[in-house]
Amino acid sequence: MASPTQFPSWQALSKNAQTLRQRELKSLFDEDQGRFDAFSIKAPQLLFDYSKNLITEETRKGLLALADDAKVADWRDRMFAGEHINRTEDRAVMHVALRDQSGEPIMIDGEDARPQIERELNHMRELVSSVRSGEWKGFSGKRITDVVSIGIGGSNLGPLMVTEALTAYQDDTLTTHYVSNVDGFQIAQVLDRVDPESTLFIVASKTFTTLETITNANTARDWFLKGGGSEDSTKQHFVAVSTNVKKAVEFGVAEENIFEMWDWVGGRFSLWSTIGLPIALQQGFEAFEELLQGAYEMDRHFKEAPLSENAPVMLALVGIWNRNFLGYPAHALLPYDQCLHRFPAYMQQAEMESNGKSVNWAGETLEYPSVPLIWGEVGINGQHAFYQFLHQGTDIIPADFIGSVKGTVDVPGHHDALMANMFAQTEALMKGIDADQVRADLKAKGMDEARIEEIVAHKVHRGNRPTNTLLMDKVTPRSLGALIALYEHKIFVQGIIWQIHSFDQWGVELGKVLAAGIQPELAEGQAVSDKHDASTRSLINYYKQAKQQ
Ligand code: F6P
Repeated sequence: MASPTQFPSWQALSKNAQTLRQRELKSLFDEDQGRFDAFSIKAPQLLFDYSKNLITEETRKGLLALADDAKVADWRDRMFAGEHINRTEDRAVMHVALRDQSGEPIMIDGEDARPQIERELNHMRELVSSVRSGEWKGFSGKRITDVVSIGIGGSNLGPLMVTEALTAYQDDTLTTHYVSNVDGFQIAQVLDRVDPESTLFIVASKTFTTLETITNANTARDWFLKGGGSEDSTKQHFVAVSTNVKKAVEFGVAEENIFEMWDWVGGRFSLWSTIGLPIALQQGFEAFEELLQGAYEMDRHFKEAPLSENAPVMLALVGIWNRNFLGYPAHALLPYDQCLHRFPAYMQQAEMESNGKSVNWAGETLEYPSVPLIWGEVGINGQHAFYQFLHQGTDIIPADFIGSVKGTVDVPGHHDALMANMFAQTEALMKGIDADQVRADLKAKGMDEARIEEIVAHKVHRGNRPTNTLLMDKVTPRSLGALIALYEHKIFVQGIIWQIHSFDQWGVELGKVLAAGIQPELAEGQAVSDKHDASTRSLINYYKQAKQQ
């Protein structure tokens, strides 16, 4: 297996990067007035502008040649065809099947998966209708007013992010709460706000073995039983989403209230599956269908658009350029939409759990960096916090700015103020401000020469900091679906180029195994193993002693 660094395209890009490192983004704009048209794509539900990256036409050609050398289009088609491209777990990767609106058979492992997908969608539709209409009653005959979704990672972040993003569209039929942390504070707070007679719990766990989720589910069940519920009525208050029907039944969920999911859906790509049940309950089933529709539109674009006009492909390639050829260590996600405030956290799992790997398909150590650190925050808040670092820090951090033409609510004067900031930031990061301009500005304000020279260096912004801009018309279920799918496919393309197994997550296992061994040691009177290193052993002992005081 040839390393991507051996591809002629990789070598050409390395040379191109040497030249471009000497260039300034703003001069690229001065030289080419058509740069925006050349380096932007109108994709379903959004406009993607990548012109504020340190690239030229030669770079784009090189990146597309890299995609060809890496056989991105073949791999994409293999994913859509249901091949077991998740080879370490020997599974298909078919989250795209969950939103496929074509009506065609979807072959996975020799079987058409469409009937099962539709069965579970109908199952969700029935529950949503019954709960939202008030037909589904709690043990005392009250209708359900609150839904508590218990899950973590992929079984939490997606539904939570989407529920928050679509707050403007929800009615007051139900209130949805999310519990993920095993820190009892979170569940205690939620249970304080809800009533056992009118609360429906969703235990969302693909495996139904995740410690945090099972601990929280047990606590919720105890609280329910103490609050007047009975073993029998547990069935009216607990439903589950899982591939592990046996464990869910053992927990006390009625088999007919277990929503199936499949091993060909990765946890962090699962909000389109029955894991999306809290979204459908909160927003109504039609909104959930719209979300699927938006993602499907992006899937078709990913499948059909030429690679040069393909938004997920170009988003991925520009990311590879910044990471592997310009050497930038991190990438920020900066939504200028309050409703997308959990989007960075969601994408952090999607990108970093997928591509945070350091060996290639053959198990050899990578000789190039893989996923950068993905982080971010609502942009406008970030401006008053960490943007100082983005503008003047010693590292260059490329960033995606995500905004929309219309706000989710119409409060006069606000949306333009918000978007003016977003546009200003990408311009400022690109152009910066040089010493001459700083001097001229300060002089115009009447500052004396000596003082100007004292502070000029501190006010210089070197600029040349790359950004992408993603502009939706408005955050709606449909545009949100497209936005999420865009990033999912970006992750896929980058994983192919890095020759990484993007769909496993062994890196989270070791800590879980050790925690399971340590937990019993924390009980009073239990010995602490001398196999722990001195730091871990001492910390455990300190914790145990301090707990006694
Ligand atoms: O943290 C690892 C992980 O396996 C994630 O990939 C997954 O989304 C999460 O745990 C939750 O797993 P489960 O749905 O099986 O409870």
